[in-house]
Amino acid sequence: MKKKKILAAGFVICMGIWLFCVCRKEDRLEKDKLYVGVTYYDQSDTFINALIDCLKDEVQNYEEKGYEAAIQLRGASGSQRIQNDQVKELIDAGCNVLCVNLVDRADPSEIIDLARENGIPVIFFNREPVAEDMMQWDKLYYVGATAVQSGTMQGELAVELIKSDAGIDRNHDGKIQYVVLEGEPGHQDAIIRTENAVEALKRNGIEIEKLSYGIANWNRAQAQNQMLQMISQHQNKIELVLANNDDMALGAIDAYEKLNYTESALPVFLGIDGTDVGLNAVRESKMAGTVYNDKEGQAAAIMELSAALATGKGMEKIEFEKERYIYLPYFKVTPSIADYMEKGSRNRYGKVSLYMLQRSVIMTS
Ligand code: BGC
Ligand code: CA
Repeated sequence: MKKKKILAAGFVICMGIWLFCVCRKEDRLEKDKLYVGVTYYDQSDTFINALIDCLKDEVQNYEEKGYEAAIQLRGASGSQRIQNDQVKELIDAGCNVLCVNLVDRADPSEIIDLARENGIPVIFFNREPVAEDMMQWDKLYYVGATAVQSGTMQGELAVELIKSDAGIDRNHDGKIQYVVLEGEPGHQDAIIRTENAVEALKRNGIEIEKLSYGIANWNRAQAQNQMLQMISQHQNKIELVLANNDDMALGAIDAYEKLNYTESALPVFLGIDGTDVGLNAVRESKMAGTVYNDKEGQAAAIMELSAALATGKGMEKIEFEKERYIYLPYFKVTPSIADYMEKGSRNRYGKVSLYMLQRSVIMTS
């Protein structure tokens, strides 16, 4: 009898060990797979490159969380045809989610067709497709930020500066003479940023006079050229430079430096993005301010959504606007905020992200 009991107990223990091993093995087999394919419009864009770095960090983060995670990156050199081919490659390579920064935001149909045929969800980011295209399939998402908000904030920064420093109106005519450096025509962030910055100035009772504008396609060198032309036309009349992004504001500053302007003869420069170079220029007071385009938050949102789409888990935790859109908030950056961000840069994402703070997934090292 006693022998039987011992045998039975032994059997139970063995079964337990065996089950434990099987489960562990199954744990390993069932590791969640996150294979992200990313294609972005151009390799020379400062903001996009920084955003891509954040995406890489995020994927590593998912690996550390126990996912089987990998990212494949393709730069499309400004060609929609190249980007369409890259999407094919990424699908063939076995990606289970696609993140697409469109070259031509009005031409996503081929990519949408490819993704739908293969049943792979797409997260568009930064370059927003038009609403009708987003309706083509229910597995299309968008992560970005609202252009109106960034323009308004840039305008408000200008208002605060103008109201606190009478010297900005250098010719004392009661008006602020300004020029605009615009991003790519057709990009949701270009015209809308300009319109809303100007609107905020008017709304706050600032008298303004537009002297000129130049299209510089987000690019620092092009902005320098455009600015050189505007300076040759208007000499020291320009009191304010509104640039649709930091790189173009920096290009404008380059133009004045090239012409050896003294500090007292310089206009006020305002950008948008808060790229590393942009924040540095704000810290050094070369640029009066910028508006932070939360790339860390955008990357976190893109990857959270990617993981949910790839694994089918966690979708209910994500908050959408208009069902399939995630917009991250902008915030204003003055020199003191830029200083603060520099000091806070020891977290693993480099900078403070409102999105991550809100979702309390901010990482400290
Ligand atoms: C950024 C620009 C960038 C562009 C690319 C904008 O949101 O502010 O710096 O060049 O996106 O699409
Ligand atoms: Ca004036």
